[in-house]
Amino acid sequence: MTYIPIQSLDRLRLSIKMNIQEYVPLAKYTTFKIGGPARYFCAAKSEDDILEAVRFAKEKKIPVMVIGGGSNLLVSDAGFNGLIIRCGIKGIEFKDAGKRSVLIEAGAGEDWEDLVAQAVERGLYGVENLSAIPGTVGASPVQNIGAYGFDVSGSIDMVRALDTKTMKFVKFSNSECNFSYRNSRFKHEKGRYIVSKVTYRLAKEGKADASYKDLVEYFGKRKIADPTLKQVRQAVIEVRKAKLPDWRSWGTAGSFFKNPLIDAEHFKRLKREYPEIPGFPEADGRIKVPLGWIIDKVCNSKGLTIGNVSTYEKQALVVVAKPGATATEVIGFANEIMRRVKEKTGIQVEAEVEWAVA
Ligand code: EPU
Repeated sequence: MTYIPIQSLDRLRLSIKMNIQEYVPLAKYTTFKIGGPARYFCAAKSEDDILEAVRFAKEKKIPVMVIGGGSNLLVSDAGFNGLIIRCGIKGIEFKDAGKRSVLIEAGAGEDWEDLVAQAVERGLYGVENLSAIPGTVGASPVQNIGAYGFDVSGSIDMVRALDTKTMKFVKFSNSECNFSYRNSRFKHEKGRYIVSKVTYRLAKEGKADASYKDLVEYFGKRKIADPTLKQVRQAVIEVRKAKLPDWRSWGTAGSFFKNPLIDAEHFKRLKREYPEIPGFPEADGRIKVPLGWIIDKVCNSKGLTIGNVSTYEKQALVVVAKPGATATEVIGFANEIMRRVKEKTGIQVEAEVEWAVA
């Protein structure tokens, strides 16, 4: 008779209970549709699943990476030699919070666009400008998603996450999330926290904000002076559709790079050379410059194609990949764009897209 050590049985039970799969191809879990397999993969449906999956990884001493909709992620061709946790915690609850606001508590695995659609349907203000962004609720605070003049940090009340250091779930108020442009404490302390739930505070009454250039043009053309909440949502959906590639038909992760923040002196120098360059002052005195404009107008690289990879013909900040493209090709292409920008402007560009490699 063979005895199986208790420890091995425990591990076996754990992996069956958590449904940890091995060698799972990740390409289909990302909007780039690129990348090799995850050594281990767990589709987590509850906070307990997350906890147990992290315990599993700690025991095996392997890295953990959490993915949501995979819409801001490039997986290496060799895959990820660790545990990928795909967070699928569901549930959206609307809670009345007095005269002015409503709290929305949502599981990290909910689809972001579903949440926005429901909020606007109920006449709640605060996320309408963030319509049609692919991805999950859990990703929204991590990278502080933003579009058309709004960052989600303006509507977040609380974030609940597993602290993988202490293995306890903790809550962060808005100010404790340390939000900034496409950044948060969850990104700074990379890998430490796994978001399980997000609470948003939306306003019952308000005025939809259509002051972003593209929205001004949209409503100007239609002679609508005071757009409603639903009209702003519709406008954002249409503007995005016209400018950004549909990830269902392209391999893409939207903006591949962040818009750089440069100091005022640097901006002055660029303005002398390129008088048309737009710039938006930030609270700290730095200037945010639209990199799409630079790639397009300064580097003449809108629509540039190298092999299977291009900058999108209608928005140069967006990188698109044809079927068959590899992660190595995409990175090579991105490096070439970064080199061109650096050469012409002195700006060191940062990628916005996360890079899964281990
Ligand atoms: N521009 C060009 N050529 C281009 C692209 C842009 O001249 O090829 C100019 C535009 O005309 C405009 C300026 O650059 O004057 C800014 O362009 P746009 O309004 O399209 O916004 P962006 O700064 O390129 C950011 C977000 C997008 C978001 C839009 C709209 C980042 C990294 N990207 O792009 O987010 O949809 O604003 O608010 O901040 C994403 O994160 O994946 C994303 C798509």
